[in-house]
Amino acid sequence: MFDIDGFVTECSVALGESQPALAVEELVERAVAQPEQIDAALGTASRGGFRCLHRSDAMTVLQFVWPPGVQLFPHDHRMWAANGIYGGGEDNAFYRRTADGLQTSGGKQLKAGEVALLGADVIHAVANPNRGYTAAIHVYGGDYFATPRSQWDPTTLHEQPFDVEAVRRVLDEADRRARAEDASG
Ligand SMILES: [Fe+2]
Repeated sequence: MFDIDGFVTECSVALGESQPALAVEELVERAVAQPEQIDAALGTASRGGFRCLHRSDAMTVLQFVWPPGVQLFPHDHRMWAANGIYGGGEDNAFYRRTADGLQTSGGKQLKAGEVALLGADVIHAVANPNRGYTAAIHVYGGDYFATPRSQWDPTTLHEQPFDVEAVRRVLDEADRRARAEDASG
């Protein structure tokens, strides 16, 4: 049975293992294998946004709901991340730093039940290519909100300090667009 407190406790214990990211990835895999249990604990994902389920210096647990068509700008985390999908799917585009700025470096499509374990230096952009909402549980090996890091303008790829409110705006706008399209039939 999935419940937030139990999940957070298990992840906290996993942080003490010799390979904490792998140990947490396993827990996220187990959680997203039972989407109906996550829905029972968190409610069915039907609005774009993110919700903080746990935050400490050592770990952040977030629920992300990606609206249809959303495209989140490239960003890094500077901590490992285990991103598990439990509904819908997401497209990841990866980037690497070069002398001239960012360069694209492949991609990965994730679908429900899959987990992406991202290293601390990964730079990625996330999109929801589906017509429905995508729901995910992300566990980060640090404080997602307080760790200084970067985001990049999606068009110019100009590097800027990461701003969590910009993430919120992208999700809100995509949510509004999706609803407007839905309403127009
Ligand atoms: Fe990310």
